[in-house]
Amino acid sequence: MKFHILPSLLAADFGELFNEIKRVESAGADALHLDIMDAHFVPNLSFGPDVVALAKKAAPTLFRNVHLMLSRPDLYVDSFVDAGADAVQIHVEADCDIWQTLSAIRARGVRSGLVMRPQTEIAMIKPYLSLCDEVLFMTVNPGYGGQSFMTEVLPKIAALRDYVKGGNRNALDIMVDGGINFETGVQCAAHGANMFVAGSFLFKQDDMGSAVMQMRDGCAAVERK
Ligand code: DX5
Ligand code: ZN
Repeated sequence: MKFHILPSLLAADFGELFNEIKRVESAGADALHLDIMDAHFVPNLSFGPDVVALAKKAAPTLFRNVHLMLSRPDLYVDSFVDAGADAVQIHVEADCDIWQTLSAIRARGVRSGLVMRPQTEIAMIKPYLSLCDEVLFMTVNPGYGGQSFMTEVLPKIAALRDYVKGGNRNALDIMVDGGINFETGVQCAAHGANMFVAGSFLFKQDDMGSAVMQMRDGCAAVERK
């Protein structure tokens, strides 16, 4: 299994966005994670497609993983793909037809992802797994960076990994987002996650590159077989 580290741009210095995106690229990160918030699905507002386009301009080959925390993500799939999203993730709790929206994402030729809040049961996402390239477990309540990791999500990660293991969904990528640092990332990897979003932890590093490498190697070393 491949282990990927995705710095979350939400934790960047917004006065230096272009340079911060270059910094993520220079650190050898596997992708850039972009958090889109509508102040309705979550209590916070972040940024829109223009920042995805800026990321494409700053670092054209850095994969752009776009996490839509929107009540109506179905209305914005095209805008974000047009701006340069390489993966579009929607919440299973969103107020739209999940099947149709995941299909629309795939029809645009980008990766599709389904996201769950910490309290959501995995039974909610199981009907859609054939339309997902990746599942994202929120390990904090979505809306803000810098919160503490919620350990109660760990058994759900393990349950989903064991559910897809051996079947034709063996290749499903399982991502975690919220409160991820070296220690919590390793715990998630031991429970079956293989993609790790980290905002505050990575952006506060003087040497983001060695933190990315250390996190990727540490997580791969405890892979749940
Ligand atoms: C939270 C966002 C996260 C956030 C993570 O709603 O989805 O991607 O940036 O930030 P940290 O790593 O600081 O918890
Ligand atoms: Zn996110």
